Amino acid sequence: MNDASALKTRAARSKGSKSNVKPRRSKALEARETRVSSAASLGVTPGYMSGFGNSFETEALPGALPIGRNSPQKCRYGLYAEQLSGSPFTAPRASNERSWLYRIRPSVKHSGRFRKVDIGLWRTAPCQEHDMPIGQLRWGPQPLPKKQQSFVEGMRTMTTGGDAATLAGMGAHVYLATRSMREEYFYNADGEMLIVPQQGRLRIFTEFGLIEIEPGEIALIPRGVKLKVELADGTARGYMCENYGGAFALPERGPIGANCLANARDFLTPVAAFEDKETPSRLFVKWGGRLFATELFHSPLDVVAWHGNYAPCKYDLRRFSPVGAISFDHPDPSIFTVLTAPSETPGTANVDFVIFPERWAVAENTFRPPWYHMNIMSEFMGLIYGVYDAKPQGFVPGGISLHNCMLPHGPDAEAFERASEADLKPVKLTNTLAFMFETRFPQRVTKYAAELDVLDEDYAQCWQGLKKRFNPRKP
Ligand SMILES: [Fe+2]
Repeated sequence: MNDASALKTRAARSKGSKSNVKPRRSKALEARETRVSSAASLGVTPGYMSGFGNSFETEALPGALPIGRNSPQKCRYGLYAEQLSGSPFTAPRASNERSWLYRIRPSVKHSGRFRKVDIGLWRTAPCQEHDMPIGQLRWGPQPLPKKQQSFVEGMRTMTTGGDAATLAGMGAHVYLATRSMREEYFYNADGEMLIVPQQGRLRIFTEFGLIEIEPGEIALIPRGVKLKVELADGTARGYMCENYGGAFALPERGPIGANCLANARDFLTPVAAFEDKETPSRLFVKWGGRLFATELFHSPLDVVAWHGNYAPCKYDLRRFSPVGAISFDHPDPSIFTVLTAPSETPGTANVDFVIFPERWAVAENTFRPPWYHMNIMSEFMGLIYGVYDAKPQGFVPGGISLHNCMLPHGPDAEAFERASEADLKPVKLTNTLAFMFETRFPQRVTKYAAELDVLDEDYAQCWQGLKKRFNPRKP
């Protein structure tokens, strides 16, 4: 359990809305709302609003949201109004992101004198600390340490690409967490965080509300959003994509039409929840590739109400509705894109987040696993659970493979043999969930990743068994 239940917290009464306009409340309605709030006041109850990039509005105390304006002369309950801008003010409407937060103290009170602290093994692009030769790379799962470390302390960077200072590129990380954050808070000024649990449930208390995720789900935390991460199962391991560029969005569907892939309604944004807590606390900020800390005497998770379209959310990857071959051949793996963070070049993502979920394979006269491939984009792949069809051996849950810009890859010898001879009946690929962070930037391997003892030195050997099959006399 977290410590929030002992705090003066209020469950929220909220709604997802396409409109910022709220009707005035009648006295009877206010009374009913008050009852709802007090009935759920024993802790921070998770609650969510459906939709992706909606203009949401939510309040944890009745009437906390101003009606018809953002910054009234006096906010109710003595709250401060504050805008959090995720895009420049002048960004086109379709990509303009901001929220209004009504909080106990403005964020200027959540920062004092900062001091630089040890960032551990978290790295930021550009990072060229190791000169590893090119090659296809694979790592086994990294064991959880005995040492007590939080989500932030346990962040281990595997690769970086691009340049965070120019708001381009990404970092690919693994987190190994063995303790919850208590009176410790964090925000990331360098990028948006896409969190992909592989073991252990996370309870992410953000200033926008509470998000709970388990393996199979993801959380998307916009740049600058304060949070603490608690471990519902005591320990947790997973992956994190730190997107330095424009925010992740749903990909266009083109001829697929209005449905399938990731549907907007399955993204869940938390209802408002807050801590009114006055105890010594520490706020960590990742800024410019470095980590800074400042001392506070209260919790910065003090947003009582908010509205806007810049907010964290979660998504259950098992709700992804895949589209694929129903006759022959493969569409490109982009058909499995859950979220895309665009660059300024149309069709060239800063980062794509792609999954390979459970699905039927039915294509006739087709080599069904992923084909052999070289790619300008760089592919960082992880396995959340199960078996990946192109690599039945060696690529295990918690592991990673890296196929960098223009390095060839594809099914190993065993997968090739099996798929070439298989009886092509419809087959359900079950118990499998792999993913890819695919970026336009070559990914540099960190010193930590290059020297890990779970690095598989013999990975490229998996293709050595591929035999010459060519026979000019046998068409
Ligand atoms: Fe590929």
